[in-house]
Amino acid sequence: MGIVVYPGSFDPFTHGHLDIISRAAKIFDKVIVAVSVNSGKKPLFTIEERVAMITRECCHLENVEVGYFHGLLVDFVKEKNAQAIVRGLRAVSDFEYEFQMALTNRNLSPELETIFFVAQPMYSFLSSSIVKEIAGLGGDISGFVSKGVAEQLRIKYTNKKT
Ligand code: PNS
Repeated sequence: MGIVVYPGSFDPFTHGHLDIISRAAKIFDKVIVAVSVNSGKKPLFTIEERVAMITRECCHLENVEVGYFHGLLVDFVKEKNAQAIVRGLRAVSDFEYEFQMALTNRNLSPELETIFFVAQPMYSFLSSSIVKEIAGLGGDISGFVSKGVAEQLRIKYTNKKT
């Protein structure tokens, strides 16, 4: 059923992201995970680290490809010949931002659809920012990210302190 792009900052990649990708991969022929290079936030992980992290976490999903983009998302989507953008919707608080983004992207590229996957209740509170905050304060993040990502976070925050 076509090619879709799942964009985001993925700083870091969480169980919530993997849930959306796994569900999208069951429906669409190909899911391209697209890491945004300039999302306006100062990331903890470099673009190379995030692409490698997502590639590793999604290696069991055959129809998932990982890349990154500079500039406008709609240009990347066109370049990849994708038909839609996939985003996850968590709580009501996501709605305004997601609505604005979907309408902006439609304005920039009228034929492009945005498809929302409703987050599972167990991940509906989860965000990369919360994970970073807990990891930075030495808390347990094992329920939110993979062992590999948890270890990468531990190393980042240990190096930051020294
Ligand atoms: O994971 P995030 O930070 O919520 O992802 C936001 C992202 C990267 C998808 C969004 O900021 C984006 O698409 N940035 C690229 C620039 C762009 O195309 N902007 C116009 C649409 S809002």
